[in-house]
Amino acid sequence: MDTVVSGIRSTGNLHLGNYFGAIRNFLKMQEENRCFFFVADYHSLTTHPHPDDLHGNIRQILAEYLACGIDPEKATIYVQSDVPEVTELYLLMNMNAYVGELERTASFKEKIRKHPDNINAGLLTYPVLMAADIIIHRAQKVPVGKDQEQHLEMTRRFARRFNTMYGVEYFPEPDAYNFGKQLLKIPGLDGSGKMGKSEGNGIFLADDPKEIRKKVMRAVTDAGPVAPDSEPSEPVKNLFTIMEVVSEPSTLAYFKEKHATCEIRYGDLKKQLAEDIIKVTEPIRERINQILNDPVYLGRIVRQGGEAARESASKTVREVREIIGYKPF
Ligand code: TYM
Repeated sequence: MDTVVSGIRSTGNLHLGNYFGAIRNFLKMQEENRCFFFVADYHSLTTHPHPDDLHGNIRQILAEYLACGIDPEKATIYVQSDVPEVTELYLLMNMNAYVGELERTASFKEKIRKHPDNINAGLLTYPVLMAADIIIHRAQKVPVGKDQEQHLEMTRRFARRFNTMYGVEYFPEPDAYNFGKQLLKIPGLDGSGKMGKSEGNGIFLADDPKEIRKKVMRAVTDAGPVAPDSEPSEPVKNLFTIMEVVSEPSTLAYFKEKHATCEIRYGDLKKQLAEDIIKVTEPIRERINQILNDPVYLGRIVRQGGEAARESASKTVREVREIIGYKPF
């Protein structure tokens, strides 16, 4: 049995990328492992959410976790800030994380390019906080999408560095994990790049069918295949990639064949894609609303999860302090 940890930032509703990149794995992993799934609300502070919104954002992600099928009887579900031990481990790990390597992180470079007016130290040390989240439960596996691969490499490096520095075999070196072997990158509907929370190119689990149809029908395509058996353009490939996770293999094969013979009508492809997405999201959307309407249930889950996560986290921090050389007076 492995220990599994993963988190999702509370900066917007869950979208198809989160679901297929991460959550679908959580559902399988909770059956056989010791799992910790949390809402990364400290991480969300890098973008300075308004105090009036913070709690609601956390509640929404929790409800969406549960609506997807994460089972609090099988996995520990908690809010990161309910486990302040994480911040102590983060501080300790910061002492062995070098500014040069943090500055070279792809996600940091992208953030400073997109938001040059908000290059805060929390962004720079974001991978250290993420490492602390993972190693605080001494996890072996971390189900994430492709975009988190480099952060996981850094986590392994920080864990190894700690072990070497203190001559111990304390932290396992955790691996990014996907059941289908390859980590996934679900593209957006705008023709390039990945589906994201703030890119305006996403389909959210909480979107209603009408909205989903509208978004998919507006997705970027091209003027049609240029010749028989030609390689689909990037935007069309992206629609096929989404189809690969939501549709039957025979549906995908049908539209690929139509593309190869230049008979494809993108309108038909989009109609089918929208219906197949709705089949995945609609039951989840209904459960999200039910759960949001039951604050007593949510409160119970989060308290129970927080306690279990703190028990595991405080044991690690106690042992790490000992390894570093802290002694009681
Ligand atoms: P976040 O909140 O951006 O995304 C949550 C999870 O969804 C995956 N994901 C995707 N997968 C495939 N295609 C996409 N388009 C796509 N978009 C998002 C992400 O890879 C991720 O698995 N830093 C993390 C949160 C975090 C964390 C952790 C994760 C904090 N501490 C510890 C794992 C372990 C983040 O911002 O993910």
